[in-house]
Amino acid sequence: MAHDFDQIIDRRPTESHKWRKYPPDVLPLWVADMDFRSPEPVIRALRERVEHGIFGYGLDQPEFHELVCERLAKRYGWRVAPEAVLTQPGVIPSFNLAAQILAQPGDGVLLATPLYPPLLRVPGNAGLTSDEALLAREADGRYAIDWDALGAAIGPRTRMLLLCNPHNPVGRVLTREELGRLAELCLRHGLGICADEIHCDLVFNGASHVPIASLDPEVERRTITLMAPSKTWNLPGLKASVAIIPDPDLRARFVAAHRDLVRAVNVLGYVAMVAAYRDGQPWLDDLLRYLEANRDVLVDTVRREMPGVRLAPPEATVLAWLDCREAGIPDGDPYTFFLERARVALNDGRTFGRGGDGFVRLNFACPRATLVEALGRMAGALRAHARAG
Ligand SMILES: Cc1ncc(COP(=O)(O)O)c(C=O)c1O
Repeated sequence: MAHDFDQIIDRRPTESHKWRKYPPDVLPLWVADMDFRSPEPVIRALRERVEHGIFGYGLDQPEFHELVCERLAKRYGWRVAPEAVLTQPGVIPSFNLAAQILAQPGDGVLLATPLYPPLLRVPGNAGLTSDEALLAREADGRYAIDWDALGAAIGPRTRMLLLCNPHNPVGRVLTREELGRLAELCLRHGLGICADEIHCDLVFNGASHVPIASLDPEVERRTITLMAPSKTWNLPGLKASVAIIPDPDLRARFVAAHRDLVRAVNVLGYVAMVAAYRDGQPWLDDLLRYLEANRDVLVDTVRREMPGVRLAPPEATVLAWLDCREAGIPDGDPYTFFLERARVALNDGRTFGRGGDGFVRLNFACPRATLVEALGRMAGALRAHARAG
């Protein structure tokens, strides 16, 4: 492998949220950024830009829009006009803006839980109701859409679907068939769609990502798609993403909704985004193989050494969703248990809404040695607890 993902880089001297939130003896496998250096071409582009020394206001260049359009056409067969691509700071502001134009206060947002916490907060932020359904969890731990529950969650005032695909935290990549059925449901009920597809580049062998808007022109017309280089090339601190809105009317409403509260991408974020989309693919190809091997180590270790903990191998993302409900953990609180007894920080499943109780989310985007160390600590804590009990 041309890129060395085994290298351990000390992030504590930086302002890293992941590494500075907990005391130094805690291994952080929580927030979704990676402990890997970004691709060299991205670092080089940033270095050159910094050396220029003048950081005035930026203007997106046509080449960038073309880069994104080419990428969408090549990877998904989805052809959009360059003007359909809008640069945005982060994906979180974008899905909040989308909710403001796809629904009016008092209307409802359709979503399925468990779900990435900032997506759960969207209805509350926009004065909307959360029309929620639980995802179905199959016997092997794999998740699927519960079509009956989703249909039942749609009320007379439901106006939009908030979709997360690939899904954080359950790691599913919806199939073309599932997406088709979802799109049909939205068309039947007249729902707009905001599709958070930020994890679309981190998809493992066996699955492939389909942007819901690419299914057909009628679906495209009602959809705001959000993508970013941030998860893919480990640039989330640079706050740069794209919104893809082919329908001119919907796009104009989205732009108007910014009302000067959300402004352009900062110039360093923009430079990194261009370099990543243009030159980042070889690094990404290697990264995916490394992550897949990490995922397999994780699944294997959990199955062999953590009795009562269950997971389905994630099909995408850097995140694993561990069901700890049968592991005999005190107070049914695996987050506190692993933090206090294993000194490993994970995300508390309860923050992902209904369906998250008794679960933790683990980020496996770290050097293998770090992952193995963290899993060893977790398994050790479970063994010590079982012996004591
Ligand atoms: C599904 C999803 N959407 C959005 C974000 C964050 O987006 P941003 O940092 O661009 O606001 C994350 C980060 O983990 C995520 O998992």
